[in-house]
Amino acid sequence: MSTLAIATAREVFDLLREDLTAIEKELGRDAISTVSTITEIAEYLRGGGGKRIRPTLLLLAARALGYSGAGMIRLGAVVELVHTATLVHDDIIDAADMRRGRPSANTTWGNEKCVLAGDWLYMQAFHIALEERNFKVLDLLISLTQQMVEGELLQIQKLGRAISEEEYYDLIFRKTACLFSVSMQLGATLADADPIQEEALARYGRAVGLAFQIVDDVLDLTATEEVLGKPVASDLREGKTTLAVIHSIEHGTAVDRLAIQSVLEDGGFARTTPEQIQQILARNGSVEYAMQAAHRYADQGRSALAVLEDSEFKRALLGVTELVVARDK
Ligand code: IPE
Ligand code: IPE
Ligand code: MG
Ligand code: MG
Repeated sequence: MSTLAIATAREVFDLLREDLTAIEKELGRDAISTVSTITEIAEYLRGGGGKRIRPTLLLLAARALGYSGAGMIRLGAVVELVHTATLVHDDIIDAADMRRGRPSANTTWGNEKCVLAGDWLYMQAFHIALEERNFKVLDLLISLTQQMVEGELLQIQKLGRAISEEEYYDLIFRKTACLFSVSMQLGATLADADPIQEEALARYGRAVGLAFQIVDDVLDLTATEEVLGKPVASDLREGKTTLAVIHSIEHGTAVDRLAIQSVLEDGGFARTTPEQIQQILARNGSVEYAMQAAHRYADQGRSALAVLEDSEFKRALLGVTELVVARDK
């Protein structure tokens, strides 16, 4: 066994190539309904690609604990299906017209059909999960789905208002970190992990998920549309304050606060430009502040892995904590 670190996305992918290919096949089978519109939408979503980070985590958790059965292919597809369902619904809620570098499903099929396609995908995920005949798996997935829906709802209630860091962390846990954590727990469950291992892997998932969403929110403010595959500064335009912006609101000048508030109120950049927002964030060191938080969570994720024996899968999990904070899209 190589003792080298696994530190690139390609290396992680190579390590899991066969499993991930099997999951793609499973996802292909799962996208088929007797109603053609659902198959069309599900196929379109599947064809849009995506990083498949949640199935990757599930596979690494299961394999790091010595599991290699068919359950991880099924449950890998399940977490990706749940993720896909949340994205379809999210793009309707956010009135987003781009996803993964192409038109979002709602722009092609409209909101009504996409709401139903999202519902169908959730149930398809549960249908496949049921094949495990394991109540714990269902329990995890049901609580997860409720947390995610509650997170989206709480976010709607907070739109257009400067939220606190505490509120921000609660939202991103529900929206993102919870699914990362459950993906790790499902892998651990398949491998019959003891409670200490399972709890540690859940903690890893939560920490990596928080880091992932903090970075996602930073990229929304700093990346380009070309790289991101969707318009920049969408969060602010949609009335969402994320960590860097919260930092500038709390540590900037009164003028800074008014400028940020104007974008939130207008739902657009009529009075303040995206460049002015970027200058405010730069002057207050807010992007660095958010990135430091992301690095702290990545460190927490690494520490949680102490319970695992060394293996290439553990090294890949260590690598993922670095990839999550280093990504540019
Ligand atoms: C997008 O997730 C939604 C967030 C939680 C930020 P990903 O960035 O994992 O989306 P894909 O699947 O790779 O497109
Ligand atoms: C992503 O939320 C969807 C969920 C995790 C439910 P956002 O609205 O913040 O993410 P993007 O920017 O559309 O991917
Ligand atoms: Mg969105
Ligand atoms: Mg959203």
